[in-house]
Amino acid sequence: MSTAPSNTPSVVHGSAPQDLVHGARARDHLSDHEYDGIREYDNPTPGWWHLIFIGSVFFSIMYVAYYHFSPIAWSVEKAWQAEQNAEVKRLFAGKVLKPDEAGILAVAADEPLMQFAQGTFQTNCAACHAKDGGGINGVNLTDDHYKNVKKVPDFFTVITNGANNGAMPAWRTNFSDNERVLLAAYVMNLRGTKPASARPPEGEVLPPFPKPTK
Ligand code: HEC
Repeated sequence: MSTAPSNTPSVVHGSAPQDLVHGARARDHLSDHEYDGIREYDNPTPGWWHLIFIGSVFFSIMYVAYYHFSPIAWSVEKAWQAEQNAEVKRLFAGKVLKPDEAGILAVAADEPLMQFAQGTFQTNCAACHAKDGGGINGVNLTDDHYKNVKKVPDFFTVITNGANNGAMPAWRTNFSDNERVLLAAYVMNLRGTKPASARPPEGEVLPPFPKPTK
């Protein structure tokens, strides 16, 4: 059995010198280290590779500066909010909805507006009231019992100002007046629906609300 002497390179990694594109100086440049009898040619990464690398570092710095720290960039949230605002504008077409009983009953029968309100409810209210209003930590909104609501306009007031020291948050700053009128009508409509799982009733039984008008 014969083994190669340890100072003789048995394997040379890297491409052969004639493949080098870096001209005569690099051509025969065998690097001077040797590990376990392995030596290698010093093949620097090519220029185009460096350009891409430096370019991507520069790009990432500009990206972070622009998208994370500059006030002029559009974030995903801003773009979404702008679309949401445009949709609200389109839906209301300049109308100002009244937060009184007649105003709430009028939008409660409007299919597209109630569909819009359903999206808002499921995104913002379902965490406490459940998607179908059956209640989790927030009260059941589908039964005949109400803690804070006595009359239809109270839906708007409770949603606007919150209740029970913030256990029910105030939504004044989150939604426009029009959106809160829609939410009031949507929640009013939940009465009498059958949730998948119902939180036990709280508060007093109210007489039926007047029917939505059109
Ligand atoms: C952080 C949890 C939480 C969220 C989110 C929440 N609520 Fe509530 N909500 C409650 C609690 C708790 C109550 C009961 C307050 C009380 O005990 O008086 C309540 C009460 C109400 C009431 C009054 C019901 C009654 O019996 O008088 C309405 C209406 C209501 N919420 C609508 C909404 C709407 C609409 C949203 C979304 C925009 C929403 N809530 C989001 C926790 C929440």
